[in-house]
Amino acid sequence: MAVEMDKEICSRMFRHPNIIWRRKTYFFRKVFRGGLRKIDSINSISASTFEPRWNGFTQFSQQLSANGYVFVENFLVEADYKILKNNWPRTRFFTPVVPNEDHKTSDKGLYCQRGTPGFDTKRNPIVWSLYEMFRSKDFCQDVSELCGDQIDRTPYHLLCQNSFWGSGLAPHRDSHDEETHSKINFIFFVESNGSGWEAGGTGIMRTNSFEDPIFVPQNLNNSCLFYFSESDLFHGFPTMKFGKFRRNVIAHFCAS
Ligand SMILES: [Fe+2]
Repeated sequence: MAVEMDKEICSRMFRHPNIIWRRKTYFFRKVFRGGLRKIDSINSISASTFEPRWNGFTQFSQQLSANGYVFVENFLVEADYKILKNNWPRTRFFTPVVPNEDHKTSDKGLYCQRGTPGFDTKRNPIVWSLYEMFRSKDFCQDVSELCGDQIDRTPYHLLCQNSFWGSGLAPHRDSHDEETHSKINFIFFVESNGSGWEAGGTGIMRTNSFEDPIFVPQNLNNSCLFYFSESDLFHGFPTMKFGKFRRNVIAHFCAS
């Protein structure tokens, strides 16, 4: 959960014209997308043998320890990245922005909680294969090596997001809880038609404002921002510019 947000920033995000429109049409969008999913279920499905591979990122361990975050480009092997990009889930698999949403104004979906998918994996086998990659022993080992503390970690929450004109994320810290610790999150930017803040590049800040950011990612295609979720740093992005879109995956890892 997001904490320590600036109320004025949340209020501005809540009042963006495209977000107002999407909040007001939430029910219609939800029913329409549900109907499309039902139609989908009539069609047959073919099996997938996709086994995505990642490019090594453990060499950034010192950078992560020093800064609390690290940005990695060319995250997936190019051929596998193209397969994921070309098979990104259709809009019908995402929950529209809800009527009272004020600080995370993107569509979200394809959740996986502690290894249990909240969606039909056969309808989205490519994303499921990606999640299986995240859950694999080798990948989890690399995450632990990146963290540089010998603590074994596994993903406890995974999801996909679609962002568009007006989407934003108010700068915040992630909340703490009793059940999870030694947390690291990453945002895998799959595809965007822009760069930096105009297109949803989640930045790292010292405070809960967008002034004076520490880091703003520019390349939002096959790149990944890792950050220690329990650090003092804030993360977020201002409302996206007209005509821009962003597709991404978020992974939350904690000590297993
Ligand atoms: Fe967050």
